Amino acid sequence: MYYETDKDDHNLSFSPFKSCVIPRPIGWISTRSADGIDNLAPYSQFQNLTFDPPYVMIGINQNPDGKRKDTTNNIEQTGEFVYNMVTYDLKDKMNKTAVGVDPSVDEFEFAGLKKVPSKLVKPFRVAESPVQMECVYYTTLRLPGRGLSGTVDVIIGKVLAVHIADDVIRPDGRLDIVKIKPLARLGYADYTTVDYNFELMIPTDDEDAIFGLGGASIINSRKK
Ligand SMILES: Cc1cc2nc3c(=O)[nH]c(=O)nc-3n(C[C@H](O)[C@H](O)[C@H](O)COP(=O)(O)O)c2cc1C
Repeated sequence: MYYETDKDDHNLSFSPFKSCVIPRPIGWISTRSADGIDNLAPYSQFQNLTFDPPYVMIGINQNPDGKRKDTTNNIEQTGEFVYNMVTYDLKDKMNKTAVGVDPSVDEFEFAGLKKVPSKLVKPFRVAESPVQMECVYYTTLRLPGRGLSGTVDVIIGKVLAVHIADDVIRPDGRLDIVKIKPLARLGYADYTTVDYNFELMIPTDDEDAIFGLGGASIINSRKK
Protein backbone atom coordinates (compact mmCIF):
# COMPACT_ATOMS: atom_id res chain seq x y z
CA MET A 1 0.00 0.00 0.00
CA TYR A 2 1.31 3.44 -0.93
CA TYR A 3 -0.17 6.90 -0.82
CA GLU A 4 0.97 10.46 -1.36
CA THR A 5 0.20 12.87 1.42
CA ASP A 6 -0.85 15.79 -0.76
CA LYS A 7 -3.43 13.57 -2.50
CA ASP A 8 -4.35 11.59 0.68
CA ASP A 9 -5.20 8.76 -1.77
CA HIS A 10 -4.90 5.80 0.64
CA ASN A 11 -8.53 4.70 0.11
CA LEU A 12 -8.77 3.57 3.72
CA SER A 13 -11.74 4.47 5.91
CA PHE A 14 -9.40 6.24 8.35
CA SER A 15 -6.22 8.20 7.75
CA PRO A 16 -3.35 5.87 8.71
CA PHE A 17 -0.77 8.60 9.32
CA LYS A 18 -1.14 9.07 13.06
CA SER A 19 -0.93 5.30 13.57
CA CYS A 20 2.41 5.14 11.74
CA VAL A 21 4.39 7.05 14.38
CA ILE A 22 3.53 5.26 17.60
CA PRO A 23 3.33 5.05 20.54
CA ARG A 24 3.40 8.78 21.21
CA PRO A 25 3.90 10.12 24.72
CA ILE A 26 1.29 12.57 25.91
CA GLY A 27 2.52 15.92 27.17
CA TRP A 28 -0.13 17.07 29.62
CA ILE A 29 0.68 20.76 29.61
CA SER A 30 -0.32 23.13 32.38
CA THR A 31 -0.11 26.87 31.88
CA ARG A 32 -1.40 30.01 33.56
CA SER A 33 -2.91 32.77 31.42
CA ALA A 34 -1.77 36.38 31.70
CA ASP A 35 -5.06 36.91 33.62
CA GLY A 36 -4.17 34.17 36.13
CA ILE A 37 -6.49 31.38 34.85
CA ASP A 38 -5.03 27.85 35.14
CA ASN A 39 -5.17 25.81 31.93
CA LEU A 40 -4.44 22.16 31.25
CA ALA A 41 -4.50 20.19 27.96
CA PRO A 42 -3.01 16.98 26.49
CA TYR A 43 -0.67 17.00 23.47
CA SER A 44 0.61 13.81 21.83
CA GLN A 45 2.72 15.71 19.32
CA PHE A 46 5.16 15.96 22.19
CA GLN A 47 8.78 14.85 22.63
CA ASN A 48 12.07 15.52 24.36
CA LEU A 49 14.70 17.02 22.05
CA THR A 50 17.95 16.78 23.96
CA PHE A 51 19.15 16.40 27.54
CA ASP A 52 21.87 18.89 28.59
CA PRO A 53 20.12 21.17 29.06
CA PRO A 54 16.89 19.26 28.40
CA TYR A 55 14.47 20.75 25.88
CA VAL A 56 10.98 19.52 24.99
CA MET A 57 8.67 20.32 22.07
CA ILE A 58 4.90 20.48 21.71
CA GLY A 59 3.16 20.53 18.30
CA ILE A 60 0.03 22.62 18.83
CA ASN A 61 -2.34 22.85 15.86
CA GLN A 62 -4.68 25.78 15.41
CA ASN A 63 -8.34 25.26 16.22
CA PRO A 64 -10.56 24.59 13.16
CA ASP A 65 -11.71 28.26 13.32
CA GLY A 66 -8.08 29.35 12.79
CA LYS A 67 -7.60 30.60 16.35
CA ARG A 68 -4.65 29.40 18.38
CA LYS A 69 -5.23 27.14 21.36
CA ASP A 70 -5.12 28.51 24.90
CA THR A 71 -1.90 26.59 25.63
CA THR A 72 -0.07 28.36 22.77
CA ASN A 73 -1.31 31.79 23.80
CA ASN A 74 -0.48 31.24 27.46
CA ILE A 75 3.04 29.95 26.81
CA GLU A 76 3.91 32.77 24.41
CA GLN A 77 2.42 35.44 26.69
CA THR A 78 3.85 34.23 30.01
CA GLY A 79 6.95 32.28 28.92
CA GLU A 80 6.26 29.30 31.19
CA PHE A 81 4.65 25.84 31.20
CA VAL A 82 4.74 22.52 33.04
CA TYR A 83 4.83 19.03 31.52
CA ASN A 84 2.89 16.44 33.53
CA MET A 85 3.13 12.73 32.71
CA VAL A 86 -0.21 11.00 32.03
CA THR A 87 -0.73 7.54 33.53
CA TYR A 88 -3.33 4.89 32.77
CA ASP A 89 -5.16 5.80 36.01
CA LEU A 90 -5.39 9.45 34.91
CA LYS A 91 -6.74 8.71 31.41
CA ASP A 92 -10.32 9.92 32.01
CA LYS A 93 -9.29 13.16 33.68
CA MET A 94 -6.71 13.77 30.92
CA ASN A 95 -9.46 13.23 28.34
CA LYS A 96 -11.70 15.77 30.05
CA THR A 97 -8.99 18.42 29.75
CA ALA A 98 -9.06 17.94 25.95
CA VAL A 99 -12.57 19.38 25.76
CA GLY A 100 -12.48 22.84 24.18
CA VAL A 101 -13.68 25.16 26.95
CA ASP A 102 -13.59 28.93 27.28
CA PRO A 103 -10.20 30.36 28.34
CA SER A 104 -11.90 31.67 31.52
CA VAL A 105 -12.45 28.08 32.77
CA ASP A 106 -9.95 26.64 35.26
CA GLU A 107 -9.29 23.20 33.71
CA PHE A 108 -7.86 21.69 36.91
CA GLU A 109 -11.24 22.36 38.57
CA PHE A 110 -13.12 21.30 35.42
CA ALA A 111 -11.39 17.87 35.45
CA GLY A 112 -11.33 17.47 39.26
CA LEU A 113 -7.53 17.57 39.62
CA LYS A 114 -5.44 18.84 42.50
CA LYS A 115 -2.95 21.70 41.94
CA VAL A 116 0.48 21.75 43.50
CA PRO A 117 2.72 24.85 43.22
CA SER A 118 5.86 24.72 41.08
CA LYS A 119 9.18 25.94 42.47
CA LEU A 120 10.56 28.04 39.59
CA VAL A 121 7.54 28.85 37.39
CA LYS A 122 3.98 30.07 38.02
CA PRO A 123 1.89 27.31 36.34
CA PHE A 124 0.73 24.64 38.78
CA ARG A 125 1.68 20.96 38.56
CA VAL A 126 -0.90 18.15 38.47
CA ALA A 127 -0.55 16.65 41.97
CA GLU A 128 -1.79 13.21 40.81
CA SER A 129 0.91 12.92 38.10
CA PRO A 130 4.12 11.08 39.13
CA VAL A 131 6.50 13.11 36.91
CA GLN A 132 6.38 16.84 36.22
CA MET A 133 8.82 19.23 34.54
CA GLU A 134 8.98 22.99 35.03
CA CYS A 135 9.80 24.65 31.68
CA VAL A 136 10.53 28.07 30.22
CA TYR A 137 9.58 29.04 26.68
CA TYR A 138 12.43 29.12 24.15
CA THR A 139 10.90 29.59 20.68
CA THR A 140 8.01 28.83 18.30
CA LEU A 141 8.48 27.24 14.90
CA ARG A 142 5.34 27.86 12.85
CA LEU A 143 4.72 25.26 10.12
CA PRO A 144 2.18 26.20 7.44
CA GLY A 145 -0.73 23.76 7.01
CA ARG A 146 -3.12 23.04 4.16
CA GLY A 147 -6.21 23.98 6.17
CA LEU A 148 -6.70 26.20 9.21
CA SER A 149 -6.23 23.34 11.69
CA GLY A 150 -3.28 21.94 9.70
CA THR A 151 -1.17 24.92 10.68
CA VAL A 152 0.89 24.04 13.71
CA ASP A 153 3.00 25.95 16.21
CA VAL A 154 5.90 23.84 17.42
CA ILE A 155 6.64 25.26 20.86
CA ILE A 156 10.08 24.52 22.26
CA GLY A 157 10.82 24.93 25.95
CA LYS A 158 13.82 24.43 28.19
CA VAL A 159 13.34 22.17 31.22
CA LEU A 160 14.44 23.94 34.41
CA ALA A 161 13.42 21.37 37.01
CA VAL A 162 12.05 17.82 37.24
CA HIS A 163 9.83 16.40 40.00
CA ILE A 164 9.56 12.61 40.39
CA ALA A 165 7.38 10.93 43.02
CA ASP A 166 9.62 8.98 45.41
CA ASP A 167 7.44 5.87 45.22
CA VAL A 168 8.16 5.36 41.50
CA ILE A 169 11.95 5.33 41.98
CA ARG A 170 13.27 1.77 42.33
CA PRO A 171 16.02 0.82 44.82
CA ASP A 172 18.48 0.58 41.87
CA GLY A 173 17.88 4.29 41.11
CA ARG A 174 15.81 3.82 37.96
CA LEU A 175 12.22 4.87 37.35
CA ASP A 176 9.71 2.04 37.81
CA ILE A 177 8.02 2.50 34.43
CA VAL A 178 5.78 -0.56 34.79
CA LYS A 179 4.49 0.78 38.11
CA ILE A 180 3.90 4.25 36.59
CA LYS A 181 1.97 2.80 33.60
CA PRO A 182 2.45 5.86 31.34
CA LEU A 183 -0.29 6.40 28.77
CA ALA A 184 0.54 6.77 25.06
CA ARG A 185 -1.38 7.52 21.86
CA LEU A 186 -1.74 5.06 18.98
CA GLY A 187 -3.76 7.05 16.48
CA TYR A 188 -7.57 6.82 15.96
CA ALA A 189 -9.09 6.87 19.47
CA ASP A 190 -6.65 4.17 20.56
CA TYR A 191 -4.21 4.26 23.45
CA THR A 192 -1.70 1.96 25.07
CA THR A 193 0.21 1.78 28.31
CA VAL A 194 3.61 0.35 29.25
CA ASP A 195 3.16 -2.90 31.17
CA TYR A 196 6.55 -4.51 30.51
CA ASN A 197 10.03 -3.46 29.44
CA PHE A 198 13.23 -5.18 28.37
CA GLU A 199 16.85 -4.07 28.06
CA LEU A 200 18.84 -3.89 24.81
CA MET A 201 22.38 -2.51 24.79
CA ILE A 202 24.33 -1.63 21.61
CA PRO A 203 26.58 -4.62 20.77
CA THR A 204 29.87 -2.72 20.98
CA ASP A 205 32.81 -2.35 23.37
CA ASP A 206 33.03 1.37 22.53
CA GLU A 207 32.31 2.91 25.93
CA ASP A 208 31.61 6.35 24.43
CA ALA A 209 28.94 4.90 22.15
CA ILE A 210 27.00 3.35 25.03
CA PHE A 211 27.73 6.03 27.63
CA GLY A 212 24.59 8.18 27.27
CA LEU A 213 22.30 5.42 26.05
CA GLY A 214 22.92 3.39 29.19
CA GLY A 215 21.60 6.28 31.30
CA ALA A 216 24.93 7.71 32.50
CA SER A 217 24.59 10.74 34.73
CA ILE A 218 24.63 14.04 32.87
CA ILE A 219 27.28 15.51 35.19
CA ASN A 220 29.61 12.65 34.21
CA SER A 221 28.84 13.08 30.51
CA ARG A 222 30.00 16.73 30.72
CA LYS A 223 33.47 15.49 31.65
CA LYS A 224 33.67 13.39 28.46
C1 LIG B 1 -4.55 12.31 23.89
C2 LIG B 1 -4.73 13.63 23.18
C3 LIG B 1 -3.68 14.16 22.47
C4 LIG B 1 -3.80 15.39 21.82
N1 LIG B 1 -2.73 15.87 21.14
C5 LIG B 1 -2.83 17.07 20.51
C6 LIG B 1 -1.70 17.59 19.81
O1 LIG B 1 -0.61 17.00 19.77
N2 LIG B 1 -1.84 18.80 19.20
C7 LIG B 1 -3.01 19.51 19.26
O2 LIG B 1 -3.07 20.62 18.71
N3 LIG B 1 -4.09 19.05 19.92
C8 LIG B 1 -4.02 17.85 20.56
N4 LIG B 1 -5.10 17.37 21.26
C9 LIG B 1 -6.31 18.22 21.38
C10 LIG B 1 -6.16 19.29 22.49
O3 LIG B 1 -5.90 18.68 23.74
C11 LIG B 1 -7.48 20.10 22.58
O4 LIG B 1 -7.64 20.86 21.40
C12 LIG B 1 -7.55 21.02 23.80
O5 LIG B 1 -8.87 21.49 23.98
C13 LIG B 1 -6.64 22.22 23.72
O6 LIG B 1 -6.79 22.95 24.93
P1 LIG B 1 -6.31 24.44 25.14
O7 LIG B 1 -7.08 25.32 24.15
O8 LIG B 1 -6.70 24.69 26.57
O9 LIG B 1 -4.84 24.51 24.90
C14 LIG B 1 -5.03 16.11 21.89
C15 LIG B 1 -6.12 15.55 22.59
C16 LIG B 1 -5.97 14.32 23.22
C17 LIG B 1 -7.14 13.73 23.96
